[in-house]
Amino acid sequence: MKRDRVVEHNRRMWDRLAKAGIPYTRPLGRPPRSREGMRRFIDPRGRLRAVTLAGARVLALAAGGGWDPVVFAKLGAAVTLLDISTRQLRTVRELAKREGVRMRFVQGDMRDLSRFEAGSFDLVWHCHSLVFVRQAARVIREVARVLAPGGIYVLSTMHPTTLRLYGTYRDGGWRPRTSYFDDSAVPHYTVEDATWDFGETKVYAPTIEFGHTFETIINALSGADLVTEGLWEFSPNPPDPEAAPGSDDHLETLFPAFIEVRARKNKRP
Ligand SMILES: C[S@@+](CC[C@H](N)C(=O)[O-])C[C@H]1O[C@@H](n2cnc3c(N)ncnc32)[C@H](O)[C@@H]1O
Repeated sequence: MKRDRVVEHNRRMWDRLAKAGIPYTRPLGRPPRSREGMRRFIDPRGRLRAVTLAGARVLALAAGGGWDPVVFAKLGAAVTLLDISTRQLRTVRELAKREGVRMRFVQGDMRDLSRFEAGSFDLVWHCHSLVFVRQAARVIREVARVLAPGGIYVLSTMHPTTLRLYGTYRDGGWRPRTSYFDDSAVPHYTVEDATWDFGETKVYAPTIEFGHTFETIINALSGADLVTEGLWEFSPNPPDPEAAPGSDDHLETLFPAFIEVRARKNKRP
């Protein structure tokens, strides 16, 4: 597959973020021991309702750095983790070893799943990473190909409106960085914009991000024979009435931070 400047840049940025140890690159918290507790831990909003995980073939797509692939394995799934960052993979490899579970590790680009046979997964779990590639429809086509008939795709990504608004509050108003209709990367204006700030941990990592619109995502799903079973818009934290005007918390009380979609591969022959 053709090398891609954006993908290569973001791979370097994720290696950098992982080296700094920001939250998305560390297994945070500790899952409960019960099966229900573990399921709630990775899936607090219940997007995997009625999906059997024991024995399921799960592709954890771009899911390096955290608990999810390990918890799927603890729940009895046969897990393949694909991520572009070797550091993110290494974190999960070490966690899996400590937790006594096995899985397959693949370093690769989510846009190219050709190493996997058609229909070889029952679930593709894809959280918070579609923003890092320009070609959302291509990723979704690949996901559809590797899913078995009746298989489930759970996607979460940044909300396309909100992504264009972070850090843009001036003189009492929000000024989107780009038009909703502009599908090029959302620009960083300042060094602060491109600094991932988690209190003690701050790291300059200007990742290149795309605010894929609902039109792009839903039409790509339909075009790939994936039937949308639900679409949700949410902010992870409860609204904070004290949030400073212009802060990310303020924005996320006005607009959802993320979208989630659950889709099913058509069973049609
Ligand atoms: C925000 S982290 C998500 C980590 C984990 N899924 C979670 O929810 O905590 C984004 C991940 O996407 C990976 N990534 C970025 N671009 C990628 C690409 N083109 N192909 C595969 N993985 C990619 C990064 O290495 C990183 O591990």
